[in-house]
Amino acid sequence: MSPTSVQDQLHAMRHRALAGLDDAAGLAAITDWERSFLGAKGELTTFLRGLGALSAEERPLAGRAGNALKVELTKAYEAKRTTLAAAALDRRLDADAVDISLPGRRPVFGGSHPLSQVIDELSEIFALLGYQTVFGPEVETARYNFDLLNIPADHPARDVWDTLHVEAAEELVLRTHTSPMQARTMERQPPPVRVVVPGKAFRYEAQDASHEWMFHQLEGLAVDTNITMSDLKGTLAEVARQLFGPARKIRFRCDFFPFTEPGVDFAIDCAICDGRGCRVCKQTGWLELGGAGMVHPNVLRGVGYDPDQVSGFAFGLGIDRIAMMRSGLDDIRAFAANDLRVLRQFARVA
Ligand code: DAH
Repeated sequence: MSPTSVQDQLHAMRHRALAGLDDAAGLAAITDWERSFLGAKGELTTFLRGLGALSAEERPLAGRAGNALKVELTKAYEAKRTTLAAAALDRRLDADAVDISLPGRRPVFGGSHPLSQVIDELSEIFALLGYQTVFGPEVETARYNFDLLNIPADHPARDVWDTLHVEAAEELVLRTHTSPMQARTMERQPPPVRVVVPGKAFRYEAQDASHEWMFHQLEGLAVDTNITMSDLKGTLAEVARQLFGPARKIRFRCDFFPFTEPGVDFAIDCAICDGRGCRVCKQTGWLELGGAGMVHPNVLRGVGYDPDQVSGFAFGLGIDRIAMMRSGLDDIRAFAANDLRVLRQFARVA
């Protein structure tokens, strides 16, 4: 090969290489390009390997020119690759762009249910009076729901509770009141006891605006030395004042519960009409809030307390009742019907 033809060959290769690099439109194309010129089997590499076959005069010139071309092409390749990589990144960023001018999606906030609000409020009021809030099982054994509350199996009083039974070997019921937690609490600890127990209760009843098969009660129990009926009255009067304002009067009337002696039902004078009589209190001037009484000695004995040493009072407040008065809702079924249009009006966001 003459020196000129070697020069020509390199010149032509350079031309083709630079034109090819110019044309290469993407990273895949320049990778191919790199392979065909600079790769192990590429044109320029093959040329440089073939230098040995040249004559002694040709070799240095061809070697220098070949290596210079290698440096030039390598630089050109790297520059192009940097440009293409930057362009590819730009394209990806453009495609991924987030339009920050779009309005955000409003998160859905939950709010506390009107019944939960009353439960929370009562728990707070009782906490200030020294009561602890505890919770009990909604599926109960007949022993706690009835027996330990002085309601024997053959006693007609059992029928009063319109019980929903659970099919099981043991006699299980959906608790018909929160009172079973009286025995459960006392069994767990020695006196003194001061607890309130908010929760669901269940009865098989015809449903109407003020009866639902699931409703809510707040049980209260205080056992200590020298607890008397006046403690019960004072406590419930204070709770009524906290709930409905300083003007409220409370009324006790005799009632019968197997687990109390004596037993009472209690009411407050209607906060809506101040006791004059209105739709809410059905013109009576009074709102029934629940049952209460002095804990029956048999109940204390049943859990191993000594009725000669300690005495106590207990009460069961109707939570739904209070929530209905608070919200102005006049149908107890609205609480569990899950109609958000109704509930949202009262939801308090924590
Ligand atoms: N458990 C009763 C009921 O649901 C209410 C009640 C009455 C609870 C008297 C008491 C009480 O703690 O002493 O009908």
